[in-house]
Amino acid sequence: MEEKLIFKHRFIEHPKDVEYFKQFPAPLMELIHSGHNVNINATLPFWGPFFYFLVRSLKCEKVLEIGTAEGYSSWYLANAVNDNAVRNGYTDAIFYGIDIVKTEDVKKELDKVGLPNIILNLDTANLTPQTFDGIQFDLIFQDGNHEKKYVLHEIDVLYPQLKGNGLGYLLMHDIMGPSSEAFQEIKDMIKKGIYNFEYTILDDGIYGLAVLRKMENYIERKYPY
Ligand SMILES: C[S@@+](CC[C@H](N)C(=O)[O-])C[C@H]1O[C@@H](n2cnc3c(N)ncnc32)[C@H](O)[C@@H]1O
Repeated sequence: MEEKLIFKHRFIEHPKDVEYFKQFPAPLMELIHSGHNVNINATLPFWGPFFYFLVRSLKCEKVLEIGTAEGYSSWYLANAVNDNAVRNGYTDAIFYGIDIVKTEDVKKELDKVGLPNIILNLDTANLTPQTFDGIQFDLIFQDGNHEKKYVLHEIDVLYPQLKGNGLGYLLMHDIMGPSSEAFQEIKDMIKKGIYNFEYTILDDGIYGLAVLRKMENYIERKYPY
């Protein structure tokens, strides 16, 4: 069991994090963040840990992040996918990422602690149905280039690769900021029946986060299934 305790001797080390927790003490968050290799992301400090628990709750096996950047949210998503595999006996659970920068750095950190991942150095303008051929995602976190043409192209390509039946989730970041135009267009397309999503705006603060759930072929489940 000893080798599974990968965070046992880790502490908050990054000077920015030390400063953050001195100013805003939050012991539980400090504990959760203490295994991370990068400092808390100022844009989405709480969504990272939130994504971990969301992906665990939804039992996701295949998660894609568009815009991995330094790997703040990637770390939480990749840990959740791996822990779901351990808990639920998945044999092919993988965290997928895309970015145009730092993909090797993020991959190295995830590999170091044995988190299955595939991170592509790719401009999503070049994303095609062949990029993730045959893969069905449980959850996609869209946080790359927020310009309308990128966001719409990503959703156009990936919609068929998101699970239906209420099992596929798209998280759109920055819908109150740079993605607002794209989000408006997606809402219009939902109204026209082009996409079958239920959605809610979980956060309409400075950046904003929307959760869209793909309802194609939805069969209402009654527990126990
Ligand atoms: C807001 S940051 C992502 C932050 C990250 N999700 C986190 O929470 O730590 C946006 C990222 O999208 C990447 N990006 C921008 N344009 C892109 C494109 N056309 N294709 C892929 N990635 C892109 C940027 O390089 C940047 O790393």
